[in-house]
Parts: sequence; C-alpha cells; structure tokens
Amino acid sequence: MPAVVVLGAQWGDEGKGKATDQLGSRVDYVVKFNGGNNAGHTVVVGDEKYALHLLPSGILSPGCVPVVGNGVVVDLEVLFEELEALTSRGVDVSRLLISSSAHVIPSYNRTLDKVTERFLGKRQIGTTGRGIGPTYADKMNRVGIRISDLFDEKILREKVEGALTQKNQILVKIYNRRAADVDAVTAELLSYADRVRPMVADTSLVLNQALDAGKTLVFEAGQATMLDVDHGTYPFVTSSSATAGGVCTGAGIGPSRVDRVVGVIKAYTTRVGEGPFPTELHDDLGEHLRKTGGEYGVTTGRPRRTGWYDAVIARYSGRVNGLTDLVLTKLDVLTGQEKVPVCVAYDVDGVRHDEMPVDQSAFHHAKPVYEELDGWWEDISHCRTFEELPVNAQRYVLALEEMSGTRISSIGVGPDREATIVRHDLLD
Ligand code: IMP
Repeated sequence: MPAVVVLGAQWGDEGKGKATDQLGSRVDYVVKFNGGNNAGHTVVVGDEKYALHLLPSGILSPGCVPVVGNGVVVDLEVLFEELEALTSRGVDVSRLLISSSAHVIPSYNRTLDKVTERFLGKRQIGTTGRGIGPTYADKMNRVGIRISDLFDEKILREKVEGALTQKNQILVKIYNRRAADVDAVTAELLSYADRVRPMVADTSLVLNQALDAGKTLVFEAGQATMLDVDHGTYPFVTSSSATAGGVCTGAGIGPSRVDRVVGVIKAYTTRVGEGPFPTELHDDLGEHLRKTGGEYGVTTGRPRRTGWYDAVIARYSGRVNGLTDLVLTKLDVLTGQEKVPVCVAYDVDGVRHDEMPVDQSAFHHAKPVYEELDGWWEDISHCRTFEELPVNAQRYVLALEEMSGTRISSIGVGPDREATIVRHDLLD
C-alpha cells in the first residue's frame, strides 16, 4: 500500500497529525503538497511537544524523508526558524527536501494579506495573515517567485521588479502603505539561497522513484476540504487545493498512483475564520465543546467556532475526495451529553437538501435537520477496542459511518498518542 493521502474532511484542525502519527515508522516519505505556514499541528513525541506550521510532521520521525512539494508556498524566514528550533532540540532535519518549483512568500505578500483583510472590513475572510492568498494569486498571475529563482540573482531581481511594478501601485495608491523596495526584497530572498540550496530537489522525480521502489508515502494535506479553493465554502476558503486532487498537481504524481484517501474528521465540527457553518453552536454547549476539546488555533491562537457533526459535509467530503477511510477524532469530547444531535440534511427556505447545496447563498441559509442520538457518560479514554466503548458511543460511531458513507477505520478517544481504537489498518 504505497501512497496514502491524509486530509481534513471538515474545516481543518481535525487532528491530521495524529492520523499520520498512527502510520508511524512504516512511512518512508511524508509529503506536504499545498498551503504553507497557515497550517498548524502539534506533534507530541515522548514528553516533547512540537508545534509545526510549515514543515511536514515527518520531520520528527527518524528514517522518514519529509518533502515540501511544488504546490506549497514557502515563507523562508519561517522555514529556517522552524528548522533552527528543531535543531536546537536535537532533531535531525538533514533529510528535508524542498521542490525547486515551490513558490516563496515574499514579505510584501504578508503585508498585502493583512491590509487587504482590513480593507475588506465586514467582508473579510479571516485569513491567518501569512501572505498565503497573495502568493497563490501571484502564481496564477505568473508573477510569482519560485525557489529556483533564488539561484539566479539577475532573474530574481527581474521577477521581483516585475511583481512590484504592479504591487507597489496597489500598496501605495489603494492601501496608503509604503512601497516595497526592489533591492531590499531581492537581498532578503538572496540571503536564504545558500542555506536552502542543499535541500532543493526535483521532488516529483524523487517521489515517483520512491513509488517505483515500493516505498510508503503519506501525502498530508494542509487545511481541509471545506477550505479548498474549488470545493470549499468559497470565498471563505484558503487559496490552495486541500482536497485529494491537489496531491497530483501539488506533488507531481499521477492519480493512478494514489491507493488510499483517508479523511480525518472530528466527532463534532470546528471552524476558524469567517464563513458559513450550519451546525455552529452559539450557546453554552458550544463553549463546552471549545473548552473540553481545547479548540484554540495552533497558528493564531484564535478560539475556534464549534458545532455538532455534519453528515452532509462528511458525505460531500467523501465524494469530492474519493475517501476510502475516515479517521474519527476526539470522540471523548462528546462524553457526558444526554443527547448528541447529528446533522443529516439541511432545510433551505423550507426545502430539504440531503446533499450540499450547490448555490452559495443556499448554503448560507441552510438550517440543520438534526437526528438526536443517545449520549454516554462513561470515561472512554482508556478504551482500546470498539467493543470496550459504551454501547451508545458504539451506536454513535456506527450511525456516523452509515450517514457519512465511508467506513470509520479508527477512533480517537483522548489526546494521548495511544488513545486510539484501530478498526482497520490504514496501510493494509
Ligand atoms: P489563509 O489560508 O491564511 O488565506 O486563510 C483562509 C481561511 O482558511 C481562513 O478562514 C483561515 O482561518 C483558514 N485556515 C487556514 N489554514 C488553516 C488551518 O490550518 N486550519 C484551519 N483553518 C485554516
């Protein structure tokens, strides 16, 4: 089973790191194929806790090659900060490979991200402010800067100049900010060239050769399905392809090489940033889920919005990603509820929708149609087999599986690495 995609099936923060972790030492390559340092995952190894934003979680597993694919946008300052922080704690980071075609996030795009959000006012997206959107926009506009440009000063300067000709007009005339200086930006980017050079590779070639050699590769998506630029709740999305299709373009492998697509999904739902969220709770129960689930962003520290499980989204995610498995996380957070509502359909202005409404406005008006399942009170964090779960927790999982249309292969019952019930091996 060589190529496994692990992605978020909701709005992010589902605990993808834990799913990758579960695959453990059997994985030879962990590949990031989209997004940048807008992501955030906490990985616990022994007593040590690591918060990663840009680097793939494989960086912490000795014997595993972490790869940053061409579809990622790289903030070089953050890259070296993360690498230095890991090195100072004794982690060997020498195996890291970065695609020469990955785009870099120049400082002017961080500025533009923040001022654009401010300018949007009430219509803001709630971005992480890391320059992600403007950098993907540059890529599509063909004015982006790629890692390979760092190795040719003349080309780099021309590209920075080309980008700034337009961007400085926007910065100065629309946003009333200072213009970015071509020399300063070029010099800053060049200052990373020698340090990044040893990590740079044709990662598509490396990954395809690894597949040919029968290695095990995990493609770990940043963000999640409902934040995907095509399939998410546009415009309240990130600017990259966070669904399974993104693996092909963002890592340079063909779709026929992917064997398994694993969607990680919480037993309830969370979202950060703006945008529609039909099952959102604005009451004490929402606060209870936030507190019990520790629902605060790793990247920005923002409190996450919380709500019940949405089976319509789970089915949609199954469809657009071709999910083969679901990894259900944080079931323990639901312990202690008399009834646990699950959204099975939407009511849109009096019309029942069993599938995601295609129309954006309809989704904004969607009211959840709930089915109430019986809750459980017992502490489940020690359970290691499905049968050990209280019968109502078992029924909850089986109901989600049926409503969502994808088998639930593992269940998270607590924050510890071991607090997982495995029903089907993700690498079988
Ligand atoms: P951007 O990716 O910074 O452009 O932000 C766009 C939207 O995606 C905002 O709503 C962010 O809160 C959300 N977002 C970006 N990265 C993550 C993530 O890793 N987890 C959850 N939400 C994210």
